[in-house]
Amino acid sequence: MYQLRRNRRLRTTEAIRSLVREHTITPNDFLVPLFVVEGTNVKQEILSMPGYYRYSLDLLKNEVKELWAMGLKAVLLFVKVPDNLKDNQGTEALNADGLMQRAIKTVKEVAPEMLVMTDVALDPYSSYGHDGIVEDGYIVNDPTCAVLAKMSLSHAQAGADFVAPSDMMDGRILAIRELLESEGYKNTGIMSYSAKYASAFYGPFRDALDSAPGFGDKKTYQMDFANRDEAIKETLMDIDEGADIVMVKPGLAYLDILRDVSDAVDVPVAVYQVSGEYAMLKAAAEKGWLDHDAIMMEQLIAFKRAGANIIASYFAKDVVRLLG
Ligand code: PBG
Repeated sequence: MYQLRRNRRLRTTEAIRSLVREHTITPNDFLVPLFVVEGTNVKQEILSMPGYYRYSLDLLKNEVKELWAMGLKAVLLFVKVPDNLKDNQGTEALNADGLMQRAIKTVKEVAPEMLVMTDVALDPYSSYGHDGIVEDGYIVNDPTCAVLAKMSLSHAQAGADFVAPSDMMDGRILAIRELLESEGYKNTGIMSYSAKYASAFYGPFRDALDSAPGFGDKKTYQMDFANRDEAIKETLMDIDEGADIVMVKPGLAYLDILRDVSDAVDVPVAVYQVSGEYAMLKAAAEKGWLDHDAIMMEQLIAFKRAGANIIASYFAKDVVRLLG
């Protein structure tokens, strides 16, 4: 046979494959989620997230130093709030000396150039485990936006570089942007969880923060996973309201949405490979059913291929170790 074009020529050796490879993973791609708890000398493994931990502030310092030394230069902070500080209004979220505010300062103290992003939503602070204020069983939108804006300001005042609203209230990006602007925090960025679906993949995360909803579910604010066009509507509105970076969440089952969004926007697009995705791979690998490292890399490359510029992932350290 004479064939002018043989696609396999470009696959004959690793040298040629790596030369023509379209997408790669580097430490620069990652945003590392960190779970913070009160106390001292606490490093607790999260039951449904093997190999992932909650840290008290003293041990958080070592972890952050290690990340920085590995070339991981951006973190996304979450806090586990003691039950006695939870209420319906998320009052503790605004405490200038609260756990989140202290965590921001702790990270900046040990790694001043580390990019610090903070989760903005009421669920870890809410006695109902919901992302906003509850009235008559409904999560009320506008009063929640007002608290989220104040919460964002408080994080900015503590030194956060970016706030990351994950609540899915309407108009929260505008409310946050306006307050940050009016208070002089013009360079504090917003990474919006723009297309965030109501997903059962968040289960292990809610164990990590003890933040599962006390009643009902999150379907009146997070998106219906049957919808595709809605992701574009949400994302474009967030950009109009001032989002600097937009996000699709979860990752694995939403690559179509990631591609749609990255084609539709001119701002950086992040994807969140969520806790359930991490748990699935860890569990299958533990049983010897899947090759952990191979699947991890295949999935992360898939995010890049689908258009992600930034990947929030619990695998960040595993990947950097693997890349050597
Ligand atoms: C809080 C928040 C959640 C996640 C990130 N921010 C949980 C939720 O919305 O219920 C999930 C992250 C993960 O599963 O890894 N609003």
